[in-house]
Amino acid sequence: MANRSVIITDQTTGKQLECPVYEGQYGAPVIDIKNLYKELGMFTFDIGYASTAACRSAITYLDGEEGVLLHRGYPIDQLAEKSSFLEVSYLLIHGELPNQTQLDEWNHAIKMHGMTHEHLSRFYQGYRYDAHPMSVLAGVVAAVASFYHSSTDIYNPEHRMLTARRVIAKMPNLVSKIYRYGSGLPFVYPDNSRDYIENFMYMMFSWPTEPYVANPVALPALNLLFILHADHEQSASTSTVRLAGSAESNPFAAVSAGVATLWGKAHGGANEAVIDMLTEIGDAKNIHKFIARAKDKDDNFRLMGFGHRVYKNYDPRAKIIRQACHDLLESMNLNQPMFEVAMELERIALEDDYFISRKLYPNVDFYSGLIYQALNIPTSMFTPMFALARASGWIAQWMEMLSDGDFRIGRPRQLYIGAQRRDYVPVAQRG
Ligand code: CMC
Repeated sequence: MANRSVIITDQTTGKQLECPVYEGQYGAPVIDIKNLYKELGMFTFDIGYASTAACRSAITYLDGEEGVLLHRGYPIDQLAEKSSFLEVSYLLIHGELPNQTQLDEWNHAIKMHGMTHEHLSRFYQGYRYDAHPMSVLAGVVAAVASFYHSSTDIYNPEHRMLTARRVIAKMPNLVSKIYRYGSGLPFVYPDNSRDYIENFMYMMFSWPTEPYVANPVALPALNLLFILHADHEQSASTSTVRLAGSAESNPFAAVSAGVATLWGKAHGGANEAVIDMLTEIGDAKNIHKFIARAKDKDDNFRLMGFGHRVYKNYDPRAKIIRQACHDLLESMNLNQPMFEVAMELERIALEDDYFISRKLYPNVDFYSGLIYQALNIPTSMFTPMFALARASGWIAQWMEMLSDGDFRIGRPRQLYIGAQRRDYVPVAQRG
């Protein structure tokens, strides 16, 4: 219920509309403008949705000014320190942390859905060996839809939960096969004696002729990265999953649309782009040249891993990752010159008026690639691994949308700036 309102007045006609204002638990209040077109015959105009709340959600809250990120109320730093990725997935989907029995049941259920239909493996053969993994991932995630005709009734809550479990369970399998195919290695079936993250590493990196022992440093590092990537409010990919899902499309197809969106370097593709950029910079002495390019309006180069639509403060995830990266390199006794370049780039940028005045801080992707790289994960697999983790957020948001009483297809409007009505001219009469 609104106890506040905003009056919109059309200065030309004098017509007025009183719009209720709703307060959430936290964050900016929202103006309900759903009667705007009916009453005043106008739409709102907000390119990039900078001031538009497109849904109500109880999953994730972030305050970009203060650098706060909460999942179901729990601060990200506490989850990162104390939780596991599968427990966070449970939390996103169910709304509460599980008790031990619930957690055991959840872990077991995810294991039980880890296989993919054998025919799905053949989809990979259609791709060139050097296809970008995100292109393959978008294809194979959508392809999963073709194996579940009788259990994807989006209006059946049991089907929705089954789908959520399938998505989370199958992502490691789908992602690992991309790497195996590109490397000419045989596909590996999941091994249910291993937990989620170890199983993923096993499917990615085990050698057919050797027993596999996961790098003990890699497991907590991946657990941390997956938790930090699990959900992020209404990001571009999450909004895409919601929009695709709002058309009552197949959930795997909606998740595939999320994968396609995440691929962009303004979004999840940034983790790969950061490493490309740091490689190009090469040495700290070249940093000033790149900072100058980032500030030059005639150059479309941007500092990858810097800036965020919502965070106008240090991304809380970046803070955690930066420390983790430092600890990891130290524990592995790795002298990674790229990390030194990254830290120096961050230092210089944060003292530069261009970045200060625009509130451009390092985001989560600035350091995540360095961790993946230290773990010997190929650069092109960084964004698929982001997708693997974010799939739990996508599916939680999709489920929430479908159980919202106001659920309807997402259908934005536009400001038309094209040609006026004109008559068709046969080709022979055109100049
Ligand atoms: N380097 C240089 N200038 C920048 C950068 C950057 N990375 N990011 C923003 N700016 C400038 C931009 O040119 C603009 O300047 P001006 O006001 O003079 O025109 C101002 O800052 C505001 O930028 P914007 O484009 O209006 O901001 P946005 O909210 O539309 O874009 C962003 C956000 C993340 C797409 C953008 O900051 C960016 O391209 N960053 C680099 C890519 C990146 O790291 N993406 C990962 C995002 S975090 C992970 C995830 O959520 O997926």
